[in-house]
Amino acid sequence: MASVTDPSAPLLLTTVAELRGAADRVRAEGLTVGLVPTMGALHEGHLSLMRAAARRSDRVFTTIFVNPTQFGPNEDLEKYPRQLPRDLELCARAGAHAVFAPSRSEMYPEGESTRVTVSGLTDHLCGAGRPGHFQGVATVVTKLFAAAGPCVAVFGKKDYQQLKVIERLARDLLLPVQVIAAPIVRADDGLALSSRNAYLSGAERNQALALSRGLSLAGRRYASGERSVAALRALVLEQLEAASVRVEYATIADPETLEPLNDSELLAGPTLLALAGFVGNTRLIDNLVLGRDPDPLATLPEGAK
Ligand code: PAJ
Repeated sequence: MASVTDPSAPLLLTTVAELRGAADRVRAEGLTVGLVPTMGALHEGHLSLMRAAARRSDRVFTTIFVNPTQFGPNEDLEKYPRQLPRDLELCARAGAHAVFAPSRSEMYPEGESTRVTVSGLTDHLCGAGRPGHFQGVATVVTKLFAAAGPCVAVFGKKDYQQLKVIERLARDLLLPVQVIAAPIVRADDGLALSSRNAYLSGAERNQALALSRGLSLAGRRYASGERSVAALRALVLEQLEAASVRVEYATIADPETLEPLNDSELLAGPTLLALAGFVGNTRLIDNLVLGRDPDPLATLPEGAK
């Protein structure tokens, strides 16, 4: 049977049994498994996660699966970009040893009826506007962790709430997975890379820059001493509204519990500033931990260089 040794030609796995077998063989050799779950349409952000996984494990397994249970009825499941041949090539270049690209029925066998719910953390931010989304994410990630077995798993801070949900489920369900957080990779103009950026027209892309610009301005204002939730939110909202971004939320929240702060409060210590909005029909998110993360417009994270 093929083994997971050659990053120039990653092993393509399509069944859970193949993934489990390949990961077991890696561990039987005394090596460690690094897992990078994705929905494909890979970009530099995803590739930076694979490189981070390669630094922390011996064999990198990337998963590519457009997970139906995390899409709402009016969301973009059908039109979500799918480009497996190109993705496989990118995985090879980023040093992935194996790619798990299962069918829908492999991940959700006929008659399945189990869902994983993480409560509390999922009430806020994207959880409020996308009911069921995090249950879908938590369910598929739990299945991937169960299939891959003991590993380090790398997730991007781009999806900050998702990262916190996954850290929590790994801990609460006693899963043998060490969750690693990787920095947001941005384009040169500051836009956080996202598979959904492919939907943006040239003009919409310019509008979308208001998200990273808003975060950057708030970060600089925070650095010069501003601690008012109302003032920092107003600064960001002004940017988003001037660019006609339809704001879903611009929330300042506790970076661990994700509990939002009220406008009357003052920030004490590192605090999450998270944004979601629509540019045309495309939903975009971005975030910054004030007092912890670098200015999104001044510093491009390692993976983007
Ligand atoms: P997807 O959107 O493909 O993202 C896969 C991983 O890439 C996530 O951990 C996400 O945070 C990370 N990522 C995306 N854009 C990034 C960027 N600009 N910089 C750094 N990391 C970035 O997130 C999902 O898929 C799914 O919900 C999944 C976890 C795979 C479950 O279906």
